[in-house]
Amino acid sequence: MATSELAGKHLVLGLTGGIACYKIAELTRLLTKAGATVQVAMTEAATQFITPVTMQALSGRPVYTSQWDARIANNMPHIDLSREADAIVIAPASTDFLAKLAHGMADDLLSTLCIARDCPLLVVPAMNRQMWQNPATQRNVAQLRADGVLVLGPDSGAQACGEVGDGRMLEPEATYEAIASFFQPKVLAGRRVLITAGPTFEPLDPVRGITNRSSGKMGFALARAAQQAGADVRLIAGPVALETPWGVYREDVQTAQQMHDAVMQAVADCDIFIAVAAVADWRVDHVSEHKIKKTADRKMPSFTFVENPDILAAVAKLPHAPFCVGFAAESGDLDVHGEEKRVRKNVPLLIGNLGPQTFGRDDNEVALFEAGGVTKLPRADKTTLAQTLVGEIARRLPDTSLIS
Ligand code: C5P
Repeated sequence: MATSELAGKHLVLGLTGGIACYKIAELTRLLTKAGATVQVAMTEAATQFITPVTMQALSGRPVYTSQWDARIANNMPHIDLSREADAIVIAPASTDFLAKLAHGMADDLLSTLCIARDCPLLVVPAMNRQMWQNPATQRNVAQLRADGVLVLGPDSGAQACGEVGDGRMLEPEATYEAIASFFQPKVLAGRRVLITAGPTFEPLDPVRGITNRSSGKMGFALARAAQQAGADVRLIAGPVALETPWGVYREDVQTAQQMHDAVMQAVADCDIFIAVAAVADWRVDHVSEHKIKKTADRKMPSFTFVENPDILAAVAKLPHAPFCVGFAAESGDLDVHGEEKRVRKNVPLLIGNLGPQTFGRDDNEVALFEAGGVTKLPRADKTTLAQTLVGEIARRLPDTSLIS
């Protein structure tokens, strides 16, 4: 997450009664860390699960629990609090509160605030699985969706009551991701995006291999940004130690050949292919079945290498190729190699890392190579840069009317 991702955003965070209130402490921390201001409002039931003092300390603002709060000069907190908001987020949203919202009831501060709003409303349900499955709840949720309310989750799994099923509140990180995603422009809505990321690992024997330096951070940040932009994202990752971005489908591979095969399987119905992976150019011809041992005469092992398939070039050659974007990391002369590589791989856009020192870092500086020339982008953290790049890619897509 970029520290300024939600800078300038003002959220009303409404808590209703449920044990998942404990998750809202962490959610508040994540939101404020990302630069959002958070105004907490709580139903009376919510104060049974977490105190207003805790929520005040975490949000850095006074917490409102009553519609008769004398701290608001005109005594209209339901109007004043919602007017400043870019969105209202109800988390956790109880069965009862969803029912109230669906029926337009307004008998406490939070429900009145919701009905008086002129901003988007997001709800994050949390309840026992039977309560969630109850036809009345399902009817209410369907009504809320029809009214334009965004319903985030619920998750499935073990519940506080000991039962297992649908109804758990999304974890704080997932809730944060869904909120951050909500604020991003949907420039890739309806698009299918395939991304490769990380290095590949080419075995020499069962315990050794050769690989490329790549943390996978840039590719994963792009997958997250494309998902936030409304795309359906499939990420094919080499061996990396990174969490899958929220809402992204991930497939793990080891070798270049496996990455190639996975891409070729998935590429048919894609609109955009972004090859960020640092694919090993060569693999050994015969991988030793057993660990290669040191010998008494200290004879060095020797290997014969064969070339791996160029995944990007292969995709760009397909009859109905998606819009292809390549990456390049060079140790020098990027100006020359960037354009030469773009033309050789036959892709409309190639993103060149300005310097190999980008490996593993959280920020990056890149230049865009395309037929019309080169554009340098300012150095930025990889999260922000990925969002910028997604915007740049969206602007260059051939024809939006061709979305199937
Ligand atoms: O040829 P080079 O490795 O420098 O090209 C880098 C670009 O090509 C990246 O986009 C990388 O993901 C892609 N590539 C590939 N398959 C390979 C080698 C590179 O898709 N075997």
